[in-house]
Parts: sequence; structure tokens; C-alpha cells
Amino acid sequence: MFNGGFKKAVKPIVFIVCLLPVAWVIWLAFTPGPAGSGLGANPQEYINRYLGDWALRMLLIALAITPLRLVLGWSGAMRFRRMTGLYAFFYAFLHLTSYVVLDQTFDWQEIWNDILKRNYITVGMISLILFIPLAATSTNGMIKRVGAKRWRKLHKLVYIIAPLTCLHFFMMRKGVQTEPLVYAGIATALLAVRLRHWMRVKFRRSASLFNTLHFHWQFDRNEIVKPGKDSSANQPIHKTPDESN
Ligand code: HEM
Repeated sequence: MFNGGFKKAVKPIVFIVCLLPVAWVIWLAFTPGPAGSGLGANPQEYINRYLGDWALRMLLIALAITPLRLVLGWSGAMRFRRMTGLYAFFYAFLHLTSYVVLDQTFDWQEIWNDILKRNYITVGMISLILFIPLAATSTNGMIKRVGAKRWRKLHKLVYIIAPLTCLHFFMMRKGVQTEPLVYAGIATALLAVRLRHWMRVKFRRSASLFNTLHFHWQFDRNEIVKPGKDSSANQPIHKTPDESN
């Protein structure tokens, strides 16, 4: 679809595009606004929420790449899956940093109280902790070290991380609000596509195993009653339920 030069250039372009939200929030911080800066009356809260939003958006973008291939057959985006996943972790880490530095000013006692007292913080923390092994094993060297099979298993953690993050968002907002529900809906749809594919593959595998077993069973039976052969030389190995009666 793309020529070689464009294909090479597109990765750095996507890399820079993913950094634009950071550039934007820095720009706002230095832009005068009615309440001091472009970040409004409560800059700490603005920055924290903004970075949390982008962490979730990046996570959903990374999660959308496989369904794009499965549903639309478009595999061109597959090479951005690792980058967007790492960006999700990057924004989540900045989100946590803004909470520790700007909201709590390194007051570890207060942070610990918050973790115990506010359930949505506990949920966010669990989600981020689960994210760490995924980010840590994202290099080719680590994939080799962990082994492709175990690495793929490990990455199933995303099925927990995404719902937990949506729950974190939902719990953090007071009452039932549309925005967290929209994000949760998108996450559910993306995970459902993967789950459906996984179940189909499992079903196909079991069906082919069944066919192989059935074929061998039939083959054994045909061997027994081969026309023109002395059937006494071919005793059945597997008995059918009728034969064993
Ligand atoms: C150590 C882990 C985490 C902590 C301590 C934490 C903390 C917070 C806090 C304090 C808020 C804002 C509450 C407020 O303004 O009243 C928030 C909101 C949010 N967080 Fe986290 N969070 C964590 C992990 C995550 C992760 C891993 C993600 C996404 C991948 C995430 C996504 C969000 C979102 C989307 C919001 C809502 C922003 C909005 O209102 O627009 N958080 N979190």
C-alpha cells in the first residue's frame, strides 16, 4: 500500500504524534489564561486528569490494533502496537508522577492513606503495577529471554488492566457519568473481538483434533474389514460401544 520511503518515515511520525499531548499541556502551562495559565484554576488537577485520560486513550489505541487486523484485515498498524502500548504506560507513569509530585508533594504518608481510603486509587495502583511487567518485557531481547509463548501469556494481563483502568475512571467520577461509560464500552468491544477470535481458534483446534481422532478410528475400522483380506489378521484395536456389547 505504501512505498518504502513512506513506510520508513511513518514510524517516527507516529512517535512524534504520540508525544503531542505532552507538548500541548506544556504549551497550556505557559499560556496566560483567565485563571492564571491555560490550565485553569486548578492546574494540578487539570494535569493529572489530562495525563490519566491520555494513558487510557493510548491503551485503547494499542488494544484496537489487533481487532483492526482481525475484523478489517488491516495489518499495517501492527508495527505500532508495541509503541502505542509503551506510550500508554508512559502516560500512566506521568499520571502517577503528577499525582505524587503535584497533588501530594511527595507526602508518602498521605499517599499511603489515599491508597487505603480511596478505592479508585487502589484500583489505579493495581492496574499500573500489572502494567509494569508488560512494559518491562517489550524489547526484542526480553521477548527472547522470556520466550514467545510465556510472553504472549503475560500479555493477557491486558484483559485485566483495561477493565481495571475503566473501573478506576468510573469510580473516580461521582455518580454515573457518560465519559467513563463510553471508554468502558470501547474497551469491552475491543476485548470482545479478541475473545471471539481466541474462542474460534480454540474451537477450530478442537474440531481438527476431533477430525484427526475420528479419521484414525475410521481407518482402524476399515482396516479390520478390508475386503478380500483375512479379517482374522486384523483384530480391532478400538472397540465401538456396539462392538464392546
Ligand atoms: C498508581 C496508579 C494511579 C494513581 C495513584 C491514580 C490516581 C488518579 C487520580 C488522583 C485521579 C484524579 C482524581 C481527581 O481529580 O479527583 C485519577 C484519574 C484518572 N486516572 Fe488514574 N491513577 C493511577 C493509575 C491510572 C492508570 C494506570 C490509568 C490509565 C491507564 C489511569 C487513568 C485515569 C483516568 C482516565 C482518570 C480520569 C481523568 C478524568 O477525569 O478525565 N490512572 N487517577
